[in-house]
Amino acid sequence: MIDPRLDVIGKRLAAVDRIVAVSSAKGGVGKSVCAALLALVFGREGYRTGLLDLDFQGASAHLLLDVQLDFPEEEAGIRPLRAAGTVDFMSFAAFSREHAVPLRGSEVTQAMLELLAITIWNPLDFLLIDMPPGIGDEILDVLRYMHAPEFLVVTTPSRLVGHVVERLLVMLRELKVPVVGLVENMVRKDSRAAVLADRYSCPLLGSIPYEEDIDDILAEAAGGKPLPERISSVFRSIAARLAAGGQTELRRQSADSPPADVV
Ligand SMILES: Nc1ncnc2c1ncn2[C@@H]1O[C@H](COP(=O)(O)OP(=O)(O)OP(=O)(O)O)[C@@H](O)[C@H]1O
Ligand SMILES: [Mg+2]
Repeated sequence: MIDPRLDVIGKRLAAVDRIVAVSSAKGGVGKSVCAALLALVFGREGYRTGLLDLDFQGASAHLLLDVQLDFPEEEAGIRPLRAAGTVDFMSFAAFSREHAVPLRGSEVTQAMLELLAITIWNPLDFLLIDMPPGIGDEILDVLRYMHAPEFLVVTTPSRLVGHVVERLLVMLRELKVPVVGLVENMVRKDSRAAVLADRYSCPLLGSIPYEEDIDDILAEAAGGKPLPERISSVFRSIAARLAAGGQTELRRQSADSPPADVV
């Protein structure tokens, strides 16, 4: 039997122009911080912006943007909450609150289908998705159930992170999924992402400096304070390049790409 939610999801997302999944494969590299900052900057620049936290087990975007988790308003579905004054926001945390909700593989898919089927997104220029770590159910489900998602891949200068991120890039290339670009987070001194960007022919959209108090800066910015120029300029530039750039499918094969069997 065909799941009726699949048809509903298409309608719920019909007025969303671009869906951008902020992903990495590696945990703790700043996906949530980047997705939240980008949503904030897009919102301030006048883009109609939504942020969907799909990290069911580690939802944190509401904490970063200091979102008041009121129970969503119901109206033949649920209306997104509001973050930072300008961003439409939805997270599983609106229901789970701070309770841990352990989910098995297929339950993750069911939770995602349910959330997508009930959320009535307003017309949006961008719906950013804060993805969980890993190359698993959520990525495959986003590809399967959301229309034309593009991936923004977060890496850091760490060699270890670069290695894991490369597996995601290989997977996205093999699945012919559009990658809008790489961002390198937590840059202190040396940058390594240019090598990855070159190897996979995808643009490096920006390098975000290591910033000790980034969580506080973000929460204050969500409350209306201006972002420090060093952060704001990087994210304005990433936002502009994202808005201008189309989708690129990863193309070039490299001799030292990880073997296909890693995916
Ligand atoms: N540019 C930065 N400078 C310093 N610390 C940062 C920076 N970006 C993120 N952090 C910190 O790194 C930690 C992880 O960030 P975040 O939660 O955004 O990563 P994540 O990739 O979403 O993690 P997860 O895989 O668990 O979802 C947080 O404590 C955050 O404050
Ligand atoms: Mg996260």
